[in-house]
Amino acid sequence: MSPLNSPRISVPGARPAGARDEADAARRVREMFSRIAPRYDLLNHLLSFQLDRLWRRRVVRRFHHILSRPEAHILDLCCGTGDLTLALKRGGRARVFGSDFAHPMLVRALQKSTCEAGKRLPKGGSRSAAPTAPSGSALAVGVGCPSDYAEADALQLPFPDASFDLVTAAFGFRNLANYQRGLREIYRVLRPGGEVGILEFTEPHGALFGPLFRFYFTRILPRLGGAISGNAAAYSYLPSSVESFPPPEELAAAMSGGGFADVRFELWTGGSVALHIARR
Ligand SMILES: C[S@@+](CC[C@H](N)C(=O)[O-])C[C@H]1O[C@@H](n2cnc3c(N)ncnc32)[C@H](O)[C@@H]1O
Repeated sequence: MSPLNSPRISVPGARPAGARDEADAARRVREMFSRIAPRYDLLNHLLSFQLDRLWRRRVVRRFHHILSRPEAHILDLCCGTGDLTLALKRGGRARVFGSDFAHPMLVRALQKSTCEAGKRLPKGGSRSAAPTAPSGSALAVGVGCPSDYAEADALQLPFPDASFDLVTAAFGFRNLANYQRGLREIYRVLRPGGEVGILEFTEPHGALFGPLFRFYFTRILPRLGGAISGNAAAYSYLPSSVESFPPPEELAAAMSGGGFADVRFELWTGGSVALHIARR
């Protein structure tokens, strides 16, 4: 089936409270992450009890067969402050790029990254040559390797068709204002045979862990996150965005309908996190 004919997901995309339409939702998401960027890493580790580190390591292990290829190109979509981007870089010899549309998140990613010599940019395709730093952007500053990061909207990536052997997105896909378009962009930038890994929170259904998770996620986490970040809205948005995000079966069906092959997902940590894997 053509990716253009993929079945609709029941929700169009993320809609933070008060968002009027898709463009407004995207603007609100970008502003929200820009505001919480200084405390993002600290809260990530704290609120997940450090499990975020374990989840990223597992993603790296799942895609070792691609990461170990020196000629492979990887895109870490919605890379935020770059923790997965860095883990992917360390996990193999492939060239790893990160992209995100929140400037302050990228500044942090760049500050954490180290520049390795002798790297190549993806070539070819139908769009403009891939990631170069827009002048005056986050990508032109810091101590990292500027060409490894692109300040870009995941719904309109500045990369040629068929640029990447692997596209990953950790806890970012859920925030897209249009899930269908997000899948289409991922499909477009993947090479035939390339793989995608989407890591997302999901609602666990275990008789004991389900209610426990919901209590923590809806009562404790928003209060703690709000108090430490100074942005209560961002940490109330987190549980509500997980609640309205399509369940793993629905996302998997949309990926299959969108042209991806070998679609499957794994549930981790009592079913609170799902890794969707597929191939173009
Ligand atoms: C929860 S953070 C995840 C960051 C990182 N992947 C991690 O695992 O910590 C979500 C990120 O998605 C980014 N994001 C959301 N919508 C986006 C879009 N349309 N284009 C690019 N980035 C987007 C946000 O700016 C934010 O940095």
